[in-house]
Amino acid sequence: MKKANHPVKTLDEKTDSLRLWDISGDEPTNIHVKAQQRSIRWEYFVAVIVVIIAVSVFFVGCQTKGPITSEPAMSPTVSPGSMGYELFQANCAACHGTSGRGDGIARMALDVAPRDFRNEPFRYVSTLDSIPTREDLIQTIKHGRVHGQMPAAPWLSDESTSILVDYVLELNRLGWVDKLTQEFTGDEEMTSQDIAEIAFERVTTEEPITLAMPGPQFRTNFTRGETLFMESCTSCHGPSGKGDGLDMPLDDLGRPIKVRNLTSDPIRGGSDVFELYKRIRCGVPGTPMPAQPALTNEQVWQLVFYTRSLMGQPQPGIER
Ligand code: HEC
Ligand code: HEC
Repeated sequence: MKKANHPVKTLDEKTDSLRLWDISGDEPTNIHVKAQQRSIRWEYFVAVIVVIIAVSVFFVGCQTKGPITSEPAMSPTVSPGSMGYELFQANCAACHGTSGRGDGIARMALDVAPRDFRNEPFRYVSTLDSIPTREDLIQTIKHGRVHGQMPAAPWLSDESTSILVDYVLELNRLGWVDKLTQEFTGDEEMTSQDIAEIAFERVTTEEPITLAMPGPQFRTNFTRGETLFMESCTSCHGPSGKGDGLDMPLDDLGRPIKVRNLTSDPIRGGSDVFELYKRIRCGVPGTPMPAQPALTNEQVWQLVFYTRSLMGQPQPGIER
């Protein structure tokens, strides 16, 4: 090219531009030839792309009929075409991924990983067996866990929310079937019926804990809460609750997580006293945060109010 600063893009434009080149005396014939060659290469390029797309579509088509993606079809609740599938793809798959493995396209924009329903436990539970009740899941789906970046979906009807609850529970159950099948491969005593039964139990819970709040006198004195905190919580949350007690904790999938700094971090499950009660009593499954089944109701409330005081958010009307 003779003049590097000549508008090279004129080659892409039609006759007018080429005529301009003629006037400038820049070897017009070459330019025509170049333009022609480029358009021929372009056609080849388009043809190659078309062939690649056709071949991929063919293989994807084969796969949907083959064993790899046919597994969800074994379950009517999550198979393509079901109500749950449509609702999930439209409202949830961008973050949780089309098959619910937490690998949706929008996850890159989030600080908190969307739940992988196949492999991870649910975290926001009101039970002592680490399994959420339907109410827990309705709370998450309809009202969100906004500090954990799980958005509320108030537009969903009760019926659609209930279908989505079935959907995520079913994905979780299928995940258990996979894990158990792997674990018991070669074990002659274990039948697929047994595995199906255990997997069903892993997503079925009993009654939730009760949340009876004691009288107001419990909310005015934090000394007993502080003592309990020193005994049961500082090993991880640190003596002042700043999350500096445990080095490099991992979640169940082996990803590094942070112990919550209770004085400044957002409380992901919700910071109202009843949500705090559930987290402290039931723990946060899938993370090192343990359940506290042995404490009395009063002790858990003392911890709730002490934790609120660390957060600088005592209940209205409560003196510190
Ligand atoms: C903008 C991204 C985004 C969208 C859209 C989204 N989620 Fe989530 N979801 C998340 C994130 C992030 C978490 C993890 C939150 C945490 O750990 O605090 C989560 C967690 C969850 C959990 C786990 C709660 C628990 O107890 O562990 C459920 C259930 C859930 N989402 C269901 C849904 C459903 C159903 C939809 C569609 C209606 C949906 N999500 C849409 C980002 C999203
Ligand atoms: C073995 C370590 C460990 C101990 C002991 C522990 N925690 Fe935690 N705690 C964690 C971790 C890790 C998290 C963050 C979990 C997550 O990423 O969702 C957490 C989170 C929390 C949260 C925030 C939950 C949310 O919704 O975001 C509260 C509140 C909390 N802990 C209170 C307590 C109290 C009170 C005690 C003592 C009774 C306690 N923790 C004992 C490790 C611990």
